[in-house]
Amino acid sequence: MKLLITGGAGFIGSSLCEKYVKEGHTVICMDNFLSGSLTNIKHLLDFQNFKLVKGDIRNSDLLDRVVKDVDFIFNLAAQIHVDRSYVEPKLTFDINIMGTQNVLEMARLYDVKKIIHASSSEVYGSAMNVPIDENHPLNAPHPYGASKIAADRLCYAYAKTYGLNVVIPRMFNVYGPRQKSVGYGGVISIFTRRILSNFPPIVYGDGLQTRDYTHIDDVVRAYDLLFKYNKKLPEPINFGSGKEISILDLANLIIELSGKKGSLKPVNVSPRIGEVDRLIANAGKANEILEWTPKIGIKEGLNTFIQQYKYFGSEERITL
Ligand SMILES: NC(=O)c1ccc[n+]([C@@H]2O[C@H](COP(=O)([O-])OP(=O)(O)OC[C@H]3O[C@@H](n4cnc5c(N)ncnc54)[C@H](O)[C@@H]3O)[C@@H](O)[C@H]2O)c1
Repeated sequence: MKLLITGGAGFIGSSLCEKYVKEGHTVICMDNFLSGSLTNIKHLLDFQNFKLVKGDIRNSDLLDRVVKDVDFIFNLAAQIHVDRSYVEPKLTFDINIMGTQNVLEMARLYDVKKIIHASSSEVYGSAMNVPIDENHPLNAPHPYGASKIAADRLCYAYAKTYGLNVVIPRMFNVYGPRQKSVGYGGVISIFTRRILSNFPPIVYGDGLQTRDYTHIDDVVRAYDLLFKYNKKLPEPINFGSGKEISILDLANLIIELSGKKGSLKPVNVSPRIGEVDRLIANAGKANEILEWTPKIGIKEGLNTFIQQYKYFGSEERITL
């Protein structure tokens, strides 16, 4: 099969590139390196069945050439950071909405077999009832969440209007190797980098806001189940652990697992505007339809991540 993975040089995209190159599929990784990195995919560059296209999903001429003979699309390219979406809402809307529309349109024109579009739990806003299932109101308070809601609706409209086979995984927070730990990064990577460098983790507000974390290996497995699923699934589908952990507890757990208990403590600073209070997944639908449940608990996942981080840093995990 010929697969296009947009955002393939990013955290999740690079793990998917790796999996499918290994399996012998032809993989085209398209990325404009807004937040992705060449380090994430450099171990794939010598494989004949891997092709890197440096480019932007907003460029429809380029997409037209790339999508022409593609069988499947994994659309992960996005401006993914909530903080950055406050500062650069136009960039966020342009990429996440219009970029997605470009991808959908090309998929429609070239009869792509299936497109798996990455949604996010950030569409829900703070939980009004828990755990959050797919019928929870879409109350995202920030431009990033708004852009993801709009993109989900576009996917749904393309599925209903043109019969496009679109699948919309709504992932809760994902963590693991290759997640950025500098600038706009994942909280687990950022905490781990600081703690292993003997700096205290910075916690916004009281740290009692909760999140639901899933290890990247469980997410790749979820994607693979969606890739192989042979019926249509145009409604969003949650992927999360169903377990919540506060940011403060997370910081303390990483301190403990890094062997720094007693020498480091989280430092609280002012809360961030519009930060969601509570996120916890009901992934019952994924379980029912795909028999997916996460296999890696937070403690085990963090332990492995910290060990990997110690040896390779966050953006290295050579497995091929
Ligand atoms: N990491 C998470 O916890 C999480 C949770 C829910 C949903 N998601 C979604 O999963 C997808 C991947 O996220 P990630 O965590 O791997 O982030 P990431 O930043 O590592 O990956 C996004 C990739 O998209 C690329 N990109 C951005 N704009 C582009 C454009 N216009 N054209 C081409 N490439 C572009 C970036 O350079 C980057 O490589 C995103 O759509 C994100 O919204 C992530």
